[in-house]
Amino acid sequence: MRWLSTIALHVLLLWSVTATAAQPPKQAYVSSAHPLASAAGIEILKQGGNATDAAIAVTAALAVVEPYGSGLGGGGFYLLRHAGKKTNYQFLDARERAPLAAHANLYRINGVVSTKLSLDGPLAAAIPGIPAALDELSQKHGRLSLAENLAPAIALARNGFAIDKVYQERASWRLAALQKDPESARIFLDQQQLPKTGWILRQPDLANTLSLLAAQGAKSFYQGPFAEKLVQNIQNAGGIWSLKDLALYQVKWRQPLIVPLAEQRQLITAPPPSAGGIAIAQSLLMLQRLPWQQAKPAQRAHYLAEVFRRAYRDRSLLGDPDFINNPIDALLARQHIVQMADSIQVDQATPSSHLPPGSVLYEGDHTTHFAILDQQGNAVAATLSLNMMFGAAFTVPETGVLLNDEMDDFAADVQGSNAYGLIGSQVNSIQAGKRPLSSMSPSFLEGPHEFAAFGTPGGSRIPSMNVLAMLEFLNGKAPQQWVASPRIHHQYFPDVLGFEPGALTEQQQQRLVKQGHEVKELTRNYGNQQVLWWQKDSGHSAAASDPRGSGASLSH
Ligand code: DON
Repeated sequence: MRWLSTIALHVLLLWSVTATAAQPPKQAYVSSAHPLASAAGIEILKQGGNATDAAIAVTAALAVVEPYGSGLGGGGFYLLRHAGKKTNYQFLDARERAPLAAHANLYRINGVVSTKLSLDGPLAAAIPGIPAALDELSQKHGRLSLAENLAPAIALARNGFAIDKVYQERASWRLAALQKDPESARIFLDQQQLPKTGWILRQPDLANTLSLLAAQGAKSFYQGPFAEKLVQNIQNAGGIWSLKDLALYQVKWRQPLIVPLAEQRQLITAPPPSAGGIAIAQSLLMLQRLPWQQAKPAQRAHYLAEVFRRAYRDRSLLGDPDFINNPIDALLARQHIVQMADSIQVDQATPSSHLPPGSVLYEGDHTTHFAILDQQGNAVAATLSLNMMFGAAFTVPETGVLLNDEMDDFAADVQGSNAYGLIGSQVNSIQAGKRPLSSMSPSFLEGPHEFAAFGTPGGSRIPSMNVLAMLEFLNGKAPQQWVASPRIHHQYFPDVLGFEPGALTEQQQQRLVKQGHEVKELTRNYGNQQVLWWQKDSGHSAAASDPRGSGASLSH
């Protein structure tokens, strides 16, 4: 096993795997949370587009068919694998930025933080990154034009599509907020009411906005008359965006976090402003020191809970790398990993209160993830978000752009607890132009023989879900099992081992309780993992979509 040292980490950030005699994937795959978005990606691959072109098409299509999960008014992270003589990886940070008029006390009324203000309406919205990401991806890595890649989404927005049960359910959860905003109600509801499945959702304004992007690129969104329309409408409704905010927005190429693992594998994952990649890396490194593979289910759940508890604790040290110095080297240093792993007792839970404090998480309820592998071996894994379902539930009139409520991913109250009783952390306080800390963590595991891609929505549960899927892969299971296997979760605080209905038997629960865990069956299943697998010696490839969602993995 190779371990990271401070210097080695920097070298590793530039790490690239020398391609051995890998057989290119026999089949290309697009795995996304909606069949129509996956189909849009396949259409682009058939036209000769590469994985990046397909990623652009899928992003835009998801903005249309999964308006509750992601969109032009939101942000996200893209992890790219470029095949070639030397494989290399890139990470595009299209995370939203706080408006310049934002400040630490933005959501305080009479000294008390109002969570409502950071969740609903235009004051909750940070400056979106997706339009800039589409343009940047197209310019840097696209083979087809931006217009060609956006065409399927434009058609879906203009012609409409029949909504499914998932749409209906999401809209029902967010009905009151959607009804409150006339423009959102007009577009996403059927005469103010929850639409029935099969109802056709048409978004001509969004089609026009996408057409403008297709013709003129991102500047048509961030500058000129369109930007003026956004700012004017947002200010009229109580928001604080300015033209300068939009003009200054930039996506950032960042070095992905690359961490060597046992058996010549490496983890390639999201760096800050995601906290997720570091938690995944810490978890896998700790697990390498624990006999989780041989452990029976309850004992394995114990190890996992203890590992997650420790990894999530360090989240409070992380924030936007443009504003703070993230202690990545220290968090991944051998000494720290060993100390954490060795502090795990075989048969006893460590109460989180016995570990030095960190921050508690509060994140939203919906987001999206997709994965693409083309026949050259180029791959994209992307997690995109509006934060809560339907974001801030505020659509800018005449644009079809539904705004995010990603401002809620900041610690609105760093001193005490917020309205939900959750503790904040100074490094993730609200500051003008800052990116809120995220859990989104599109990831690859790659070794000499295999390549695998992982990712899911799910707020604070994203990193633990990604680790669970990775463990199925490391255990030699098929992709269908990576996405399907039952989930457990621990995030330091609350000090609870949560599990999906059916994930642990009564007996296993009792054993964990005896070990000192507070176990809690969750009210519903969670997550929507989309994965890819490529066996490089044979060229065999496969993909799978989480059975908990209505996504589809399509091949070409
Ligand atoms: O960036 C984050 O961590 C959150 N805004 C993601 C929210 C999310 O995944 C909700 N999904 N179900």
